[in-house]
Amino acid sequence: MAPVQTFAGEVADNYAKHRRGYRPGLIDYLASTFGLGPHSRVLDLGCGTGQLTIPLAAKAGAVIGMDPSPDMLALAGTEAANVTWVLGSDQQVSSLDSLLGKEGLDVVTIGQALHWMDAAQLFAALMPLLRPGGGIAVISNGTPVWIQETAWARALADVSRKWFTNLSFPTCGCSPSDRARYRILLGEAGFTVEEHAIDYTEEFTVDEVIGSFYSAAPLERLNPDQRAGFDADLRSALLAAQPDGRFVEDVPVRTLVAHRTQQVTGSAPRH
Ligand SMILES: C[S@@+](CC[C@H](N)C(=O)[O-])C[C@H]1O[C@@H](n2cnc3c(N)ncnc32)[C@H](O)[C@@H]1O
Repeated sequence: MAPVQTFAGEVADNYAKHRRGYRPGLIDYLASTFGLGPHSRVLDLGCGTGQLTIPLAAKAGAVIGMDPSPDMLALAGTEAANVTWVLGSDQQVSSLDSLLGKEGLDVVTIGQALHWMDAAQLFAALMPLLRPGGGIAVISNGTPVWIQETAWARALADVSRKWFTNLSFPTCGCSPSDRARYRILLGEAGFTVEEHAIDYTEEFTVDEVIGSFYSAAPLERLNPDQRAGFDADLRSALLAAQPDGRFVEDVPVRTLVAHRTQQVTGSAPRH
């Protein structure tokens, strides 16, 4: 599990302001493939500041947004009356059983967050919570900027390497091999899995690129007196790599759609 301080303070602020949202086409697809409607109950696990939770709420009867970071939840939008925000991690999902009852959920969405969780244990824990025909959507909403191949993205990675020692550049569950592993684990847990793809391009300003990067960067590792230097270095490297200030990004959105088709056997009667 991610330490709570990973998604806190300035990172959480930048997440709420600058992190990419989810395309309406994806929300429509999820609603249609899982047959969402006013009767549906959805759990958005690792919901962060609610980028996925809020649009899903427009398609469902009730949504739970669950996340272990108080700072992320504090910034989640309050505009949807049918969302309940819950502080908790993948380790607590089984406790929802006593609140919702067996098969009390139609869909569980996990957007850009499964890499923080114990996927095998989670999928097994979710199976009895889901109604037959319901399922799980594991979504990677683009590629982390530090592993993109454009000149400006490489400049960003180079500047970061210079300022942070031993910086890792994780794939955050977005690589084909990450998805292949999740697919196998979903299959082993008894789900039937298919993959859905949306590709689009998006253009950003330099402030948006920096804000989005700061929603993931370990800024707390810089001393306060280094910070202004890093900000300036990053901005100037980005603009040197992209002098017209138009930062275009290819955004591959990949969703593993896992349906629960089997009956759970041997479950204890409820008292
Ligand atoms: C990259 S953000 C994704 C947020 C949101 N789903 C989105 O797509 O914008 C990852 C989120 O996972 C949460 N997280 C970290 N560890 C978790 C865990 N063990 N269980 C559930 N959520 C976790 C973090 O607090 C963070 O809000």
